[in-house]
Amino acid sequence: MKPLLIDGDWVATASAAENRNPSDLSDVIDLYAHAGVPETQAAIDAAAAAAPGWSGTSPQQRFDILNKTADELTARKHEIGTLLSREEGKTLREGLLEADRAANIFRFFAGECVRQTGDLVPSVRPGIDVEVTREPLGVVGIITPWNFPIAIPAWKIAPALCYGNTVVFKPAELVPGCAWVLADILHRAGVPSGAFNLVAGKGSVVGQTMLDAPEIDGITFTGSQTVGHRVAESCLKRMRKVQLEMGGKNPLVVLNDADLDQAVDVAVDGAYFSTGQRCTASSRLIVTEDIFGRFVEKLVDRCKALAVGNALSEGTEIGPVASADQLETDLKYIEIGRAQGGNLRCGGERLRRDTDGYYLQPALFTDTTNDMRINTEEVFGPVAAVIRVKDYEEALSVANETEFGLCSGICTTSLKHANHFRKNSKAGMVMVNLPTAGVDYHVPFGGRKGSSFGPREQGQYAAEFFTTVKTGYIRA
Ligand code: UN1
Repeated sequence: MKPLLIDGDWVATASAAENRNPSDLSDVIDLYAHAGVPETQAAIDAAAAAAPGWSGTSPQQRFDILNKTADELTARKHEIGTLLSREEGKTLREGLLEADRAANIFRFFAGECVRQTGDLVPSVRPGIDVEVTREPLGVVGIITPWNFPIAIPAWKIAPALCYGNTVVFKPAELVPGCAWVLADILHRAGVPSGAFNLVAGKGSVVGQTMLDAPEIDGITFTGSQTVGHRVAESCLKRMRKVQLEMGGKNPLVVLNDADLDQAVDVAVDGAYFSTGQRCTASSRLIVTEDIFGRFVEKLVDRCKALAVGNALSEGTEIGPVASADQLETDLKYIEIGRAQGGNLRCGGERLRRDTDGYYLQPALFTDTTNDMRINTEEVFGPVAAVIRVKDYEEALSVANETEFGLCSGICTTSLKHANHFRKNSKAGMVMVNLPTAGVDYHVPFGGRKGSSFGPREQGQYAAEFFTTVKTGYIRA
């Protein structure tokens, strides 16, 4: 059994859960300890007790630990990428890229440890200086989803520690493996006892205990809107800082003047890679009239040819859906799409492979309108829908007509339309001739409207959430 990490000790528990491979349900990766309320509370208490010590470490000490973590992630990239693909189901290529991304995130925030600054400002009153500095929040609760088992934990844990916070980390139930490896690496890299704690387990137990704990000073969460709202309410009740990344219903606009082959590549990547299980996925393909026929024809051909298979097999382009629950949701939405009048042009059926897994042929709907449920609700699977529009103006208005606002994309060779879209799209991230998913690790990540709440993640903007500002007035 893989234990929890609480106050620097590895803690086994009476209850543990199996971690199964969605590409091969007979493959059990390991048993992982589940924290109950007492273990979770112990981790919270340990993080609170460690906070003054950790915030007082030197930037060099923090740099050394984060940098060492980055080095080990890089050195073990193949092993970690393989574990990731095995437990989550994204292809090995995607697993390796994600392991690399996690290493780069730790390396970036190692650098940030020794790059923290403040401002010294002359007061408007004579003889007085004003000093503006950043201080850690204290204890940060980190709750992560299953679709990026190592990158999302990395982009929350690395800045939390970099800016001097201690951490209580609850990974998604479905992917405890990468979380455990990361905890083990951090522990051996020298994070002091209590400064980083791993409490795997159920949201209703571990997550709820974290939400109820007054010792936690800030919570950063990535996951569903429903849970996000619960997290926000609990934080508001305690006047505690909160950062939420939730769903998306991201539009990709394809204009008549687009490079057709490039637009199809962009759509296939954005809609289906990582089995469509990215909050940044392009699920609404908004296409103008003149290119519509050619675009759909090529896309359907590509869609039918996508190699769906075991995540670890060579040649697989689309791995299995991550879980039985998610597969059920995907199939339910495919039914809803049909029932509401969408034309299922390809895919949508469950596939059998050599090993028993949650395989689904990527689905493409045409003849859909923006108010159909497959265009208003996040599916979180390999399901995309094409919406036909007259011109750019209609495309922009349909793109913005959603309760979400994480990212958006446009395929066009017109600088005028690309610029206009970039400025008028109501999303936190806008991609021109690029898939909506697959972001850099050193620049802000986040959305608007129902997609996100609180300060941005990643890059130097991460400091906004993980620190609190102090203004000092000094009379000489
Ligand atoms: C990416 O598209 O590279 O949960 C990252 C998600 C996002 C991360 C997307 N928070 O899908």
